[in-house]
Amino acid sequence: MAFSQGSAQGGGFILLLLTASLLVLMSEAETIVVGGSKGWSFGFNYTDWAIKNSPFYINDKLVFKYAAPRNTSSYNVYLLPNLWSYINCDFRKASIVADAKQGSGKGFEFVLKQWRPYYFACAVNNGVHCSQGQMKFFAIPWPRPHY
Ligand SMILES: *[C@@H]1O[C@H](CO)[C@@H](O)[C@H](O)[C@H]1NC(C)=O
Ligand SMILES: *[C@@H]1O[C@H](CO)[C@@H](O)[C@H](O)[C@H]1NC(C)=O
Repeated sequence: MAFSQGSAQGGGFILLLLTASLLVLMSEAETIVVGGSKGWSFGFNYTDWAIKNSPFYINDKLVFKYAAPRNTSSYNVYLLPNLWSYINCDFRKASIVADAKQGSGKGFEFVLKQWRPYYFACAVNNGVHCSQGQMKFFAIPWPRPHY
């Protein structure tokens, strides 16, 4: 009885430590505009951009900026489920992150919350923006190192 109570308190303490370190991590998070001054647009090499802007860290915010559509749909942001669908620009199991309107103004913010690969791509035009327009990249956010 006493033992289980003790370990429960220990667990609570560890949780407190985790929460505290998470708050530190969050306070150091960066905001990064995808594509820089180019924003999220057709024909820009986002693979190259992602390489040059790596590493990303957990809780960093990616900002996708693109104009709202006038006549035709402009751009959007999808998450592809795995490397295969990313390579092939296959959106069948993709999930929408931001629609055509959400990139206007200050842009759409996406927080890299987990230590996993995020495969981003534009799904417009049956994936042509992804396959021909280079509108895809992936980011793997790392736990931010402490100094
Ligand atoms: C985009 O950049 C990557 C990485 O620098 C490079 O390997 C690739 O050839 C570039 N793609 C095009 C179409 O220029
Ligand atoms: C977009 O719509 C406007 C007004 O309806 C029209 O004048 C213009 O030609 C359209 N542009 C395209 C690219 O379809």
